[in-house]
Amino acid sequence: MIELKDISKVFMTDEIKTCALTGINLHVEKGDFISIMGPSGCGKSTLLNIIGHLDTPTSGTITVDGVDTGNMTDRELSRLRNEKFGFIFQSFHLIQGLNVLQNVELPMLYSREKLSHKEIRERAKMILEKVGLSSRMKHYVSQLSGGQCQRAAIARAMITHPHILLADEPTGNLDSRMGKEIMDLLLGLNMDGTTVVMVTHDARLASEAKTCITMNDGEITDLS
Ligand SMILES: Nc1ncnc2c1ncn2[C@@H]1O[C@H](COP(=O)(O)OP(=O)(O)OP(=O)(O)O)[C@@H](O)[C@H]1O
Ligand SMILES: [Mg+2]
Repeated sequence: MIELKDISKVFMTDEIKTCALTGINLHVEKGDFISIMGPSGCGKSTLLNIIGHLDTPTSGTITVDGVDTGNMTDRELSRLRNEKFGFIFQSFHLIQGLNVLQNVELPMLYSREKLSHKEIRERAKMILEKVGLSSRMKHYVSQLSGGQCQRAAIARAMITHPHILLADEPTGNLDSRMGKEIMDLLLGLNMDGTTVVMVTHDARLASEAKTCITMNDGEITDLS
């Protein structure tokens, strides 16, 4: 599904060179659930962003479903992101001025899949039911708990039916009980066929993934 070959990423800021990733090789197969662990600054978010084409590598190649994405235009890349990837972040990235339903519907406004407003609403309601938020659809973001915010963010990521869900510390702002609930939700989505790649600091949650990657200093040091 996704193949990274010899990926490196160097950031240059004020003459300071940071090698965030060095010689990364990784296959993400359909149906995988991959967890990524490692110390702060070891390159986990950078790797996730490169897998999701939110950032480009300094060297190396990435293929998605057999297509090398290295020469794609910005327009092609944003289409690829919208069609194939769903993103979840530690701090949810929900829009405060919109209610839950509106937040979840938002990605469909940019989708090439042109549904009517009624169809989008139906789909959003169905996904909110799946994540257990049916009773909170009209709530604004400030009226939700952390776990509910993350559920809303997952629903928003899922509305475009992404093939792969990329989650950067999705439980990082939640207590362990809520973290477990979100993990169970991600495991359920994976069972339904969505591929998941998740960065986490929680070894207990990481061990529930099918594949566990450990990183250190920009390199993958263990894959099991
Ligand atoms: N936009 C950027 N410009 C310059 N350096 C960056 C940038 N983004 C990340 N880095 C550097 O690249 C390295 C890897 O950062 P990254 O965010 O991937 O780490 P991480 O493993 O996700 O850490 P954390 O667990 O703290 O989130 C760090 O040394 C960081 O300072
Ligand atoms: Mg990070």
